[in-house]
Formats: sequence, C-alpha cells, structure tokens
Amino acid sequence: MNEEKIIDGKLVASTIREVLKQKTAILRDTQNIIPTLAVLLVGDNPASKVYVSGKAKACIEIGYNSIVKELPDSASEDEVLQIVNEWNNDPLIHGILVQLPLPKHINETKVLLSLNPAKDVDGFHPENVGRLVAGLPGFKPCTPAGIIELFKYYNIETSGKNIVVIGRSNIVGKPMLNMLYQKQDYSNATVTICHTGTKDINYFSRNADIVIAAMGFANFVKANMIKEGAIIVDVGMNRIEDNTKKSGYRLVGDVDYNDVFPKASMITPVPGGVGPLTIAMLMVNTFKAATNEFYH
Ligand code: GUN
Repeated sequence: MNEEKIIDGKLVASTIREVLKQKTAILRDTQNIIPTLAVLLVGDNPASKVYVSGKAKACIEIGYNSIVKELPDSASEDEVLQIVNEWNNDPLIHGILVQLPLPKHINETKVLLSLNPAKDVDGFHPENVGRLVAGLPGFKPCTPAGIIELFKYYNIETSGKNIVVIGRSNIVGKPMLNMLYQKQDYSNATVTICHTGTKDINYFSRNADIVIAAMGFANFVKANMIKEGAIIVDVGMNRIEDNTKKSGYRLVGDVDYNDVFPKASMITPVPGGVGPLTIAMLMVNTFKAATNEFYH
C-alpha cells in the first residue's frame, strides 16, 4: 500500500534521540553535566510499567542518568509528596516525572502542584500549563509537542488550516489545542476541540484538514467522519483482546486505520506513529531541564 502516506514516528523519534545523544556527550565533556531524570511509579498498572521502563531505557541509550522509584499501590500521599520534595531539592536531579494515573487515594493535583516547575519535564504543573496558554517559554507536554515535531519533520502546513482535536484530556487534548492556535510555525490553526459533550462530532471532523484523535476509544474514527485527503493523527493506545497474541491483547488506536487509510492523505499508524515521540520529547525536555532553558 501507499507507504508514503504513513507518518513514521519511529524514524522521527530516532532522529531526535540521535541529536540528543551527540548534544549530551558535548554537555558532559564541556560542562560535566549529565542530564538526570527521576521517575516515580506508584502501584502496578501494567501499561504504566511498560511506559516507565521505556523511559528509563531511552535515558540510558542517550547517556542520561535514570532513577526509577517504585512504590506499592498502598503508598500514602505523604510518601509520594516526600519523594517529590527530596527530588525537588536534589541538584543532581534535573527532571522529575510522576507516572499517571496515581492510585485513587492520592490527590493528583496536589502531587503535580508539589513539583518544582523547573523540573516538571511532563509540563503538567499549572505554572507550565499557564506558560503554554500565554505563549511563554516553558515545558510542554510530550505527546502534543511530539505531534508538532511530526508536522515539522514532514513539513505539514498547519497555518490557516482547520484542525479538530477529539478528546480533552490534560495530557493530550487540552495542551494540543493550546499549542495549535498559537501564532507560531507549525501552529496558527483554527482549532476545534470535540469531546463527550459534543452533539455531532462528524459535523466538525468532516470539515477538518487535520483530525487528531485522542479520546481513548478504540477504532472510533471511521472513513465517513473525515474529508477526502485529510491528515489523520492517532494518539490512541487501546488494548483489545487478541487470543492469537502471546500477551493476549493487541494495541489499536482511536482511528479505524484500515477504514480511514484510503481516504487520508497522511496517517500515523499504531504502534509506531505518535507513541515513540512521547519518549523522545521527554528526553528533549530533560535536556532542557539540565541546561536550565526556561527557569533561571
Ligand atoms: N500517563 C500516560 N501518559 C503519561 C505521560 O505522558 N506522563 C505521565 N507522567 N504519565 C502518563
């Protein structure tokens, strides 16, 4: 099939990681700084475990230090806050990431607010959220920042385009919206955000030049929801049962890929589309934290 339609996230991510590898060697040799990322994982959510080990592996491969602390599901909010506080005050730790979701008895907002914004490589602290909305420099959430990198790499014009984002999560939908309307390169679009309160998603998605699906609903976007030639970005990572797989499941996106493919001009696959960019951008943010790019 039309290979050139496929947006290769693995390729873009490995290009970004290769550049970081070289910059990290220079930083180490010239300033004796080794970017260090500390990750806190609470509980035993299997998907979170996979993500955290991927983040640690990426650190090592680029030449960063990686710290991973695991706490049981029964850990208290105070224990979590105490670890974040220690890491906030440790000058050898540049980036801090608390893997989400946290167990229900821990207040996520309280934990995010406790992060030092200068070490918030996820860009989830309200200070960084505010900076993003105001168009000021700051840490930007990795997945939507990675989607902008895909647009850059493939020189996908967004200025003046109609972009529909489906899903309003704090991790993807909201920051994606807030990036795409900024008066900047690979943004400057007219953005509509659709969600569970939207009466007729098709009405909006059929008029979109670019559709970004990020609502966490397997195979939701069908060919009849998009216009001919639309660019489709699929952020979904849904596990669906598959007894032919050793793991018992397979990953599918929020887009019905086979249905949408013939009508799309470009499309991200799952896996290998947006996913690899999330870790690559986390590595970019960790480098920026180590070199104090935003907070002095
Ligand atoms: N859970 C799902 N995605 C993410 C992410 O990008 N960062 C964190 N901290 N948790 C997540």
